[in-house]
Amino acid sequence: MVLESSENSKTIRRKLEHIEIVYAKPVEGPLTTWFEYIFLPHRALPVVDPEKVSTRMNFLKKEIEAPLMITGMTGGAPGTEVLNKSLAEAACRFKIVLGLGSQRAALESRELAYTYSIVRDVCTEIPVVGNIGISEIVRYGPRIVDQLTSIVEVDALAVHLNYFQEVVQPEGLVYISRGLEVLSEVIERSPVPVIVKEVGFGISREFAEDLYSAGIRYIDVAGSGGTNWTLVELYRAMNSGNLVKQYIADGLKSVGIPTAASIAEVRSAAEDFFIIGSGGVRSPYDAVKALRLGADMVGLARPILVAYVKKHLREFLEAFIVGVKSVLASVGATTLHDIEKCPIVVTGPLKDWVNSRRIVYLKDIGQQ
Ligand SMILES: Cc1cc2nc3c(=O)[nH]c(=O)nc-3n(C[C@H](O)[C@H](O)[C@H](O)COP(=O)(O)O)c2cc1C
Repeated sequence: MVLESSENSKTIRRKLEHIEIVYAKPVEGPLTTWFEYIFLPHRALPVVDPEKVSTRMNFLKKEIEAPLMITGMTGGAPGTEVLNKSLAEAACRFKIVLGLGSQRAALESRELAYTYSIVRDVCTEIPVVGNIGISEIVRYGPRIVDQLTSIVEVDALAVHLNYFQEVVQPEGLVYISRGLEVLSEVIERSPVPVIVKEVGFGISREFAEDLYSAGIRYIDVAGSGGTNWTLVELYRAMNSGNLVKQYIADGLKSVGIPTAASIAEVRSAAEDFFIIGSGGVRSPYDAVKALRLGADMVGLARPILVAYVKKHLREFLEAFIVGVKSVLASVGATTLHDIEKCPIVVTGPLKDWVNSRRIVYLKDIGQQ
């Protein structure tokens, strides 16, 4: 057991099952991120000292040391405060961004607020991002934004869209009419910026354009190739013996937009989107590729959980940041602003994708 809890409501049980399955089962694939089709030709003798590379930047009016976010995972079940506390300590130590898991459970029972707010007891300096599903906003109305932002002091609120996960989940809410209008109402109501986030299926250019028109300026693409929520729900359906859901999950497990393609799609929709490139970011090299493609920051979830369970979280993050600086130095970048000048080679299916979608914002990539 990764986390223990004495309570047993449906939402709480689902939270704990997700953590258990994500940790213990092979929940990645069959799609990959397509970062493997990107190469950043390096200088074998770098002109930049990796120790002099600065990855400092501002995000949500706070200074952070690296363009890195632990994306939303948990809170909402007794026991999860232990994980959130450790994540906050690690995020604080390295001055990076921390996302909370869905705050739905605290809306249903206010006594669970401490499982989220503990992160502020640990650290006030870092940006913390709240989290709620679009389904909950539709269910309870945009006024829940007031509650969500009062449960814990957040610097932004992520609204997650997880259509394919809901299709497979026995308790899922599939169709949401007026979704974009609802998002506009949320932006109007929210005292903090709103981030629209997928959970592992990616975001397309057309949808990003709609989000832009609705007033959204922050997107976490959470593309395919990392944690696959169809597979996670497949394991839950197997545990509960739900054969129909098992067949649905099996049939949909290859759906999604690989993360690298999704970053290119969203960047081509608007120059001024703040893009969090996430979904299967597994190495510092992936991270720099995501930044070179046009992401402003990268996000990780599952590797953070795995490192936490192994009690390696600090070492993992330290190594990740050193790795990012080493890659940046090797391509001649001293700061994050220099990345866009670094050479990039796009090959294989990603090159075909970019060409077939006529994505031309990166002059070295499009229309080759
Ligand atoms: C255990 C676990 C729980 C998660 N819970 C949430 C959640 O409550 N809300 C949300 O928006 N995303 C949630 N996610 C999705 C992640 O934030 C992320 O978008 C997704 O896992 C892809 O990133 P990865 O491939 O690095 O894991 C969760 C991920 C994990 C691993």
